[in-house]
Amino acid sequence: MKFHVMTLFPDMISAGLHTSILGRAMDAGIIELKTHDIRDYSKDKHRHVDDYPYGGGAGMVMSAEPIAACYADICEKRMRRDRPRVIYVTPWGKPFHQEMAKEMAEMDDLIFLCGHYEGVDERVLESIVTDYVSIGDYVLSGGELPAMVMIDAISRMVPGVLTNEESGMTESFENNLLEYPQYTRPEEWNERKVPEVLLSGNHKKIAEWRAERSVDRTMKYRPELMEGAVLDKKTAKYYREHYVNEK
Ligand code: ADE
Repeated sequence: MKFHVMTLFPDMISAGLHTSILGRAMDAGIIELKTHDIRDYSKDKHRHVDDYPYGGGAGMVMSAEPIAACYADICEKRMRRDRPRVIYVTPWGKPFHQEMAKEMAEMDDLIFLCGHYEGVDERVLESIVTDYVSIGDYVLSGGELPAMVMIDAISRMVPGVLTNEESGMTESFENNLLEYPQYTRPEEWNERKVPEVLLSGNHKKIAEWRAERSVDRTMKYRPELMEGAVLDKKTAKYYREHYVNEK
């Protein structure tokens, strides 16, 4: 799968994504990342890519032309007839979530557009963007971090990026339950002991304990997720006994 990122800060994108699991996947050729510096497409001798907003107001607006030229260049080199998926990351987009990451991971390629300043000329958005996506209800200084967040989450869903063991970790979130607590050596740290059951070697009991702690954690921090949670019989019983007021 190939990610294209149109940005004013290509180094930020490359530096942030060439590490850990994604770095490994790129080295293995499973995913590919190509940054495109929008400034390279400015026709201006000072390489300007923004201008004052019509109608007045604070800040600058990114001009349509350099972005359109950058997009045209990507399309030409892409050599495909179908229209590429172009994601504009913006606080007013649709909220990003795991299901969206999974769906996007099925594409052969994706193009991200990272905005800056007070926004991007609406006309270029209208002509190239297919998806408007937000990573949360807060405003960041630019689209680079949101694009990186999305690329990380999408890449993890591309077959071959995660090892079997790593895949299991995501699955537990897919049931709408939060992760159970984890412990490593030493057995006692600052007078806090690792829960007995984890030292027992009894895998069935450990799995039960973990499922229950997932329910506890979900109910404490994200109770609204519980509605879509998939519980096995035993865990469902635990949930009913501890969290549902039976009359
Ligand atoms: N650009 C600035 N803030 C953003 C956000 N929360 N999500 C996506 N893109 C953004």
